[in-house]
Parts: sequence; structure tokens; C-alpha cells
Amino acid sequence: MSEDNAWRFDTQVIHACQRPEEWQTGTLPPIYQTASHKFGTAEQLSEVFAGREAGYIYLRLRNPTNDVLERKIAALEGGVGAVVTSSGMAAVTDTVMAIAGAGEEIVAGNSLFMSTYILFTSVLPRFGITAKLVETTDPARYEEAITDKTRLIFVETIGNPKMDVPDIAELAAIAHRHSLPLVVDNTLASPYLFRPVEHGADVVIHSLTKFLNGHGSAVGGVIVDGGSFAWPLEKYPHFELSSAKRPDAPFLDKVWREIHINFGTTLAPFHSFLTVIGLDTLALRMERHMSNAQKLAEYLADHDKVRWVNYPGLPTSPWHEVAGRQFAGNGYGALLTFGLANEQACFKFIDNVKLAYHLANLGDSKTLVIHPYSSQYVSFTEEKRAELSIPAEMVRVSVGIEHPDDIIADFAQALEAA
Ligand SMILES: Cc1ncc(COP(=O)(O)O)c(C=O)c1O
Repeated sequence: MSEDNAWRFDTQVIHACQRPEEWQTGTLPPIYQTASHKFGTAEQLSEVFAGREAGYIYLRLRNPTNDVLERKIAALEGGVGAVVTSSGMAAVTDTVMAIAGAGEEIVAGNSLFMSTYILFTSVLPRFGITAKLVETTDPARYEEAITDKTRLIFVETIGNPKMDVPDIAELAAIAHRHSLPLVVDNTLASPYLFRPVEHGADVVIHSLTKFLNGHGSAVGGVIVDGGSFAWPLEKYPHFELSSAKRPDAPFLDKVWREIHINFGTTLAPFHSFLTVIGLDTLALRMERHMSNAQKLAEYLADHDKVRWVNYPGLPTSPWHEVAGRQFAGNGYGALLTFGLANEQACFKFIDNVKLAYHLANLGDSKTLVIHPYSSQYVSFTEEKRAELSIPAEMVRVSVGIEHPDDIIADFAQALEAA
């Protein structure tokens, strides 16, 4: 992949891992929509199963269309390899299950996407894995929470929907001081804005459903191995086989061979294909997503009916400085939240938007609005909503790539009704 890595990011998103000569000179990878692959001799199949020969056997194991997306995202994130999964949550689950087991612990920033929060606090404990959640942007709290049972540190680059921004390099340093890997969910930033591996992260996760696909046309996830972590056997004895088989990428081997295949978190090849198409425009889209978000945040901050705006691009954000430094002035993401008088005002605003779509997703080319308190978090207790910073008066916006004046005009007229 060395020739691909020589290009600038904006070129890589289009040209990295393109292999037209292998695709009947087509410019897009073929969709290998097949559950399994036919073999000639019994010996051949045995060789491939044993890993002595390369080849495709069965979709749950590996698929040529999925391979293209895996290679491409690994190149974009600066990793040594990747595994695509059936959803972003499958990527989170596979990763934790590959690393930690019963009786062990993980430490995570407490500003987590809803399903990740439920997985960590309600589901994993049933399998004997304890998650200790700490204040996301306070590195000292992570260090205090680490014990000899800790097996990984997990954090989101930009918290959804708290919009907080932890210092990834500092967390990587803490993790490594304790011989632990840092796992980063980079969904809200995308590799266009931030590449965690360059800042010391060991594993990077995405929901492909969001900015990487960019059009809300498929669900998917990806796990990227940064190839940087040593996986000491005294702490990770279950990595012995993978360390021997793939010394350059033991985690990739482990998560693929043991968890991904056997949990069956397979991505459909058609979803890979749609995501490969979406990736072509990632750089352009992110540029527009983020400049629109900045403009909308500034507009809302000046609006009489808007009590507060939470966007890392505003100087009022407590995370403005760290985001500016960490994202090297390239932007602050495309998600923001704002507060109105109360829940009723939020409902009126949402019921009156005409351009923006009201739905549960983010990272689409269209502007999306939602009232998290009464939707994704409706079954959460008041205490949990407070812990996750989900007040009743909050609207979340995923800013799209329409003309910024049209987005602002739509919000202006909807706010009149609020
Ligand atoms: C930060 C983050 N991580 C993970 C996920 C889960 O992704 P998926 O819906 O593809 O399972 C989401 C979904 O919104 C998310 O926002």
C-alpha cells in the first residue's frame, strides 16, 4: 500500500486500493454477492482453510468486496489492516470481546453513544466484564480507574452527543504507561478530520453508517488495527496464537479469527460497495459539513430563542482549545446541540423544519435533527440522562452539505414556531 500512502488524504480517499486491472478494468470493485466460493480439489480447500494458500471460502469469513473497503479504510486511518462489520455496534462489541474476558475490566470515557453505554454498563457485566466510566476529558480519572484487571481504554474522539473532546495523545500515553491499548471510536471525526493512530491510539473503530458512507444508504462498521500495540502475553495470554500468526497485526488476527467469524458480525458486500462509493467524496463532504456546522452554530448562538449552543468550534465550548489543537485547525466536526426553552419548544422546532430531516442517524449529506431526550434516551432514568448530558431542552443537529443559507433559513423559520 506504499504508493497509496504517498498521496494526500483527499486523493487517497478516491484512489487508495483501486485495482481496476483486477476488476475487468471497472472503476469500482465488483459486488461479490455470494455466500460461498466454489473449489476444485479437496486439497485446495484444505490449503485455504489451513491458511497456507490465499482464497475466499465463505462470506462470514472473508469477501472480495469487503476486502477492498477494509484495505481502503486501513490506508486512510494509517493502520496495518481492518475488518468490516455488520454495524458500528458490531465493531465495538467485537473489539471489546477480542481483548477482555470474564473477570476483567475496561475503562471508558463516560460520554458514550447510547448503545455503547448500554453495552458497557448493562450487557458486558452479564458476561463478567466490568466497565468503569470516568469523566471523558479528565486524564487523571482514567489513571485512577486502572487496576491490574484492566484490559483496554475506550473513548470517542468527539462524544455523541456531549460534543466533548478528550486529548487522545494524552490518553494514549496513560494507556501505554500501563501496557494497555487505547481504543478510539472515531465516528464523529472521520479520518478526514483526525487519525487517532497518528496520536498513539492502537485500535480505531467507526460506524460506517455515518460520514464514511455519507448518504445513509447502508449500515456498517469497521475495526482498524494500528499495529502499534505489543499485546504482552502475561496480560493477554489469549493472544499467543494471533501473535505467532500475524506478528505485524496480532489484534487484527484475533478479532477476525476468534470473534468476528464466530459471532458472525458479517457486513453485506453490497453495503461495502455503497460505502466505497461514498468514501470518494469524504474529503469534500467533510469540508462542507464542517463549514456549514460552524456557520449554523454561530447563527444559533446569536438567536434570541436559543439558550445555549454546544459545538467545539465555538470559543464558548470548554473543548474549543483542545479540539483546535488536536484537529489542527481543520474543523470541529459536524454535530452540534442547542438548547431551547423546554421540551415543547424542541418539539415545535422539529415539527416545523422543512428542509432538515427528523430521524435517528447522523453523518448523512442531509441535515438531520432529533430530540434525544424523548427518542434514543426515552427509556433512560433522569440520573442516566443527566450523566450522559441529555437535557429535555436539547436538540441535536447533524449538519448536512446543503447550501448553508438554506439550512439557516430553515432553522430561522422553524425557530419562529418554537
Ligand atoms: C459514535 C458512535 N459509535 C457507534 C455507533 C453505532 O453505529 P451503528 O449504528 O452503525 O451500529 C454510533 C451510532 O450512532 C455512533 O454515533
